[in-house]
Amino acid sequence: MSDGLEDVVAAHTILSEVDGSAGRLVIRGHSLDELAGHTSFEAMAALMLDGLLPGLPAGREFGMALGQARSQIFDAVVVPAALPESLSPIEALRAWTALIPDGEDAGTALKLLAAPAVFTAAAARRDRGLPPLAPDPTLPQAADMLRMTSGRAAGPGQASALDSYLVTVADHGLNASTFAARVVASTRAGLTSAVLAGISALRGPLHGGAPGPVIEMLDAIGEPANARAWLEAALDRGERLMGFGHRIYRVRDPRADALKSAIRRLGQDAGRIAHAEAVEQAALAILRERKPGRPLETNVEFYTALLLEALGFPPEAFTCVFATGRTIGWLAHAREQIAGGRLIRPQSVYVGPRPQQAA
Ligand code: ACO
Repeated sequence: MSDGLEDVVAAHTILSEVDGSAGRLVIRGHSLDELAGHTSFEAMAALMLDGLLPGLPAGREFGMALGQARSQIFDAVVVPAALPESLSPIEALRAWTALIPDGEDAGTALKLLAAPAVFTAAAARRDRGLPPLAPDPTLPQAADMLRMTSGRAAGPGQASALDSYLVTVADHGLNASTFAARVVASTRAGLTSAVLAGISALRGPLHGGAPGPVIEMLDAIGEPANARAWLEAALDRGERLMGFGHRIYRVRDPRADALKSAIRRLGQDAGRIAHAEAVEQAALAILRERKPGRPLETNVEFYTALLLEALGFPPEAFTCVFATGRTIGWLAHAREQIAGGRLIRPQSVYVGPRPQQAA
């Protein structure tokens, strides 16, 4: 048995390939470089779902249908469903998503693609004591998500930086949340249930919950001169450094550089970038010293934190923004699983007492 299912192949997929030794990500025949910075959320969703979801509108009609789905979701879910104030943004996203009726069809998939943009914006504003803003169905998803969050029209640079992010995180092989979504889809529970499984797995700090803590780390370190002592103390307490390490990559995560380019194009505060780079270098040096046998490099979450901060999202909502991009992958994998896969049902090895041994 392989601990954490490492090296276990659990699916054949046409969707994406992660090459951990070369640091390469291929999505439906395209390298990440060809997609990030050149593709919108809408085009990425169309590419990923191509041939997997009969009845999905194509071309301009897809963008229009997605905009209408945002409005429907706002009216049907956000307006009537009051949630307890104690829920964090990712918990609110999960609760609102659970109100979307299940199904395996294109209509359900469109609602699920549209929903996280609406829920993320509403959850981020709710956290600040502000009322939700209704979607503008005529805008592209990234521009509308920024507008619904901040209350101001997004500049073209901002919308394109958010598109770069959403495209970069749209799919990544059989990561924990995608596997969870495929397991649920394999029971034929429906796409809403599969996406809920994905959200639930994503929120953990070992997966999509890391970028908020990255901001806390950068702020707590304060000055680059403090980095080594702060990072050493965290490791001495047995903590992991957020934004570093990966199950598959043994070299730098290619998504980290795709996001760093997006941050530079956006014109993020040079001082903040320099601070993050100094902390990154200190962390890499310490991890090399402490774990010489285990290559631990920067992962996607480190520069996710910087990019989403520059776009004005509060750190508490970062995982919701991640879910907005990754929903594309969850839906494509769920549909692929439904189309060709059997029920996922592995075995376990019982190591407890046998009946005659139990008292
Ligand atoms: N900081 C310090 N030590 C680390 C880190 C880290 N970030 N990552 C791994 N290690 C250490 C482990 O403590 C372990 O040491 P040991 O053998 O002495 O016990 C060794 O490296 C191997 O760790 P594993 O747990 O086997 O690595 P695994 O493949 O299970 O974990 C993971 C991958 C969860 C991403 C891990 O690197 C981690 O916890 N990183 C920090 C959280 C993070 O950045 N998560 C986002 C990942 S990207 C994404 O999911 C979108």
